[in-house]
Amino acid sequence: MVESMRSVRTLGLLGTGVIGGGWAARALHFGMDVIAADVRPEMEDWIRGAVANAETALARLTSAPLPPKGTLTFTTDLEAMARRADFIQENIPEQLELKRRVLAEASRHAPADVVIASSTSGLMPSDLQRDMHSPQRFLVAHPFNPVYLLPLVELVGGRETSLRTLEAAHAFYTYIGMHPLRVRSEVPGHLTDRLQEALWREILHMVNDGVATTGELDESIVYGPGLRWAAMGTNLIYHLAGGETGMRHMLRQFGPCLKWPWTKLEAPELTEQLIDRMVEGTQAQAAGRSIRELERLRDDYLVAIQQVLRQFDIGAGSTLRALEERLYADSAAALGGADGDGAAVPGQPLKTLQAEVRPEWIDHNGRMAESRCVQVFGDAADALFRLAGINGADRSAGRAFFAVESHVIHHAPASALDSIFVTTQVLGVDDNGVHLFHSLKRRSDGRLIATGEQRYEYASASEGACAPIDTAVRARLDGIRAAHAKLRAPAQAGRHVVFPGT
Ligand SMILES: NC(=O)c1ccc[n+]([C@@H]2O[C@H](COP(=O)([O-])OP(=O)(O)OC[C@H]3O[C@@H](n4cnc5c(N)ncnc54)[C@H](O)[C@@H]3O)[C@@H](O)[C@H]2O)c1
Repeated sequence: MVESMRSVRTLGLLGTGVIGGGWAARALHFGMDVIAADVRPEMEDWIRGAVANAETALARLTSAPLPPKGTLTFTTDLEAMARRADFIQENIPEQLELKRRVLAEASRHAPADVVIASSTSGLMPSDLQRDMHSPQRFLVAHPFNPVYLLPLVELVGGRETSLRTLEAAHAFYTYIGMHPLRVRSEVPGHLTDRLQEALWREILHMVNDGVATTGELDESIVYGPGLRWAAMGTNLIYHLAGGETGMRHMLRQFGPCLKWPWTKLEAPELTEQLIDRMVEGTQAQAAGRSIRELERLRDDYLVAIQQVLRQFDIGAGSTLRALEERLYADSAAALGGADGDGAAVPGQPLKTLQAEVRPEWIDHNGRMAESRCVQVFGDAADALFRLAGINGADRSAGRAFFAVESHVIHHAPASALDSIFVTTQVLGVDDNGVHLFHSLKRRSDGRLIATGEQRYEYASASEGACAPIDTAVRARLDGIRAAHAKLRAPAQAGRHVVFPGT
């Protein structure tokens, strides 16, 4: 029995179709290497295309500093993949015998401290782990399409799955920005597909009976319940439907309907006529748009919805916030010295940020747009404040710095995907604020792209908008300032907009 599971640098994929491609895109984006195995060699082009497609939307999900992207390799040799991967995700077709055989084979080659997870939509983990070596390291981890944008992953242990495996899987999926939902006991279809299928059966009945078209049924969700579901789900929303007394009143009022024949649940026969109606209905809804076009539209609104939910710190928006906290903290720890305690490196400004220039940051003149420079300098300042001891709890409680003045000078063009970094020099600290100077440079040649000078003030919700800086934070900032006082003052510091004609 292995005491702990290994930390994950390389994700191994078994099966590189729709779901395997989605896992690859997500893992690579958050800095994991991926080794993808499929029996069909032509899937290499497919998965590379799928990853490139996903990147367009993924790149817009967060502007938090990301680690360098992982590397994708492809193989048709399952054994080679299983020997190299630190964590294996199986995504082959939904057939019990096939999955059982392939999982057993992978488990013979993968060391026992490598977690093996299956993306199965509804098979039971106890059935899948039956023939495996070290079956305690197996679980079901059921994602949702598109895996690279939807955070939900249902974690289901089988009879032999160990708690350590579930914990290691939970940590891994959280790291790549997901919301792991532990399913208490294995049931066919897990939780979500069971719910989705109940709805799906009713849809088939209503189309079959000529009650509604596929388009009308989608309208019945899209303009109503669908908007509520994204943030509150069914139960909390029904709690609100009960008025002041919530769910209790709701059940009293609508409980009797449960006895009425509103739902049929047993699926109708899939006749050719029903299949035609479903196909024709959805083709009419697509209105000539290709699957690719519709996927792009779906991806764009999924990104936008998560960004809106983040403002309310609810549902998938909370997951995105937590991911960003982790990305900022990792970036600060990587840049601010081994112990990440805010210690300044003598003789140098602090490296506060490293990032990649996103394509949409570049304006029509091939320069980083001003708003993006301000955003990057804001992120760099945030990293400095983290080093000085301001954490997520402080910010939620209203104890944080806010920008009161910024001056950006553009020095050189930049290109999409340039690797950049920011250094920050603390020019001054007083009771209420700090005076910062940032330099944004290209990593490959150190060329200066932009500089920014900023004044930040400290706010405390308990003491009003502007307040004395917390004592411990102030002490750290003073320490950094003392180290930076020995540096040469930046030539651009103190500049204002100069226009020769005036
Ligand atoms: N498509 C979805 O919406 C969705 C959502 C969640 C979970 N899932 C689950 O994910 C799994 C994969 O579904 P998918 O939609 O990606 O299927 P898919 O048909 O798109 O991909 C399956 C891939 O597995 C490969 N394969 C077949 N046998 C193999 C073997 N022995 N070794 C290695 N590769 C092999 C195939 O060549 C193919 O590329 C299924 O279990 C499915 O239930 C699917």
